[in-house]
Amino acid sequence: MREGIGHQFQTETKYQREPYSAGALERQKKREKLKEKLVDKQIQLPAPDRENGWPLFRTMNLRRSVREFQKKTVSLQVLSQVLWAASGLTLKAGDFLLRTAPSAGALYPVDIYVFTREVENLSPGLYHFIPAAQALRQRYEGDLSQLLSDAALNQDFLAEASFVLVLTAVFERTTWKYGARGFRYIYLDAGHVAQNAALAAVSLGLGSCPVAAFFDDEVNALLGVNPARESAIYLLAVGWPRQKSGL
Ligand SMILES: Cc1cc2nc3c(=O)[nH]c(=O)nc-3n(C[C@H](O)[C@H](O)[C@H](O)COP(=O)(O)O)c2cc1C
Repeated sequence: MREGIGHQFQTETKYQREPYSAGALERQKKREKLKEKLVDKQIQLPAPDRENGWPLFRTMNLRRSVREFQKKTVSLQVLSQVLWAASGLTLKAGDFLLRTAPSAGALYPVDIYVFTREVENLSPGLYHFIPAAQALRQRYEGDLSQLLSDAALNQDFLAEASFVLVLTAVFERTTWKYGARGFRYIYLDAGHVAQNAALAAVSLGLGSCPVAAFFDDEVNALLGVNPARESAIYLLAVGWPRQKSGL
């Protein structure tokens, strides 16, 4: 385990189930079974449209947290667009590949994973977004949305969304430079990424809801990350809203 106030803060603010809580053994067995279906395959995403979409202020006015979704498929183009808006590349400046969202020191500690359920031409599963290639790396084949919802304190809408973005922090990318203060920057970075994705969703006619209430260890186990190095910090459920929002 890494040391220091930053890591202590991360560990001591975790949500955890009570030991031996109901269904603990069942959940553990399901997670063990997941390991049988791990894959590693790269999927190129359609090029994002950088010009069109709704004007910014209209989009901001219409953003609401949406927790009721239609059972309707999202195209791969739409997923690509949301991912690019969240954390896609916009400029090569010297050695830096700058992105849509700002990042302290241009160190980009936030990675994005996607749990897909209803995305055209993409089997339900777990994917890792690779901004430099505008591609997804498939990690797991199979619908994990129910397990994700369960790991997020049973918030049902996570299992009804077309896809859920999980933002993780790879702490060392920022803390090697800024030490424990880097933890502040990491959470600020994640806020920028999530807001970009939320606004992109509205601009495409979709709705989203940010989620920070989840059992850290369980979401990390679904992602297959080592929490001492990388941990889930924020989720965003995305899908077609059942109702229109705005004044
Ligand atoms: C950091 C953060 C964590 C949140 N976590 C949850 C959550 O776990 N579940 C949920 O239903 N909404 C969650 N929300 C959404 C808020 O409840 C919502 O943003 C707030 O009620 C304001 O409504 P609005 O987003 O429609 O403007 C979260 C929002 C933020 C910014």
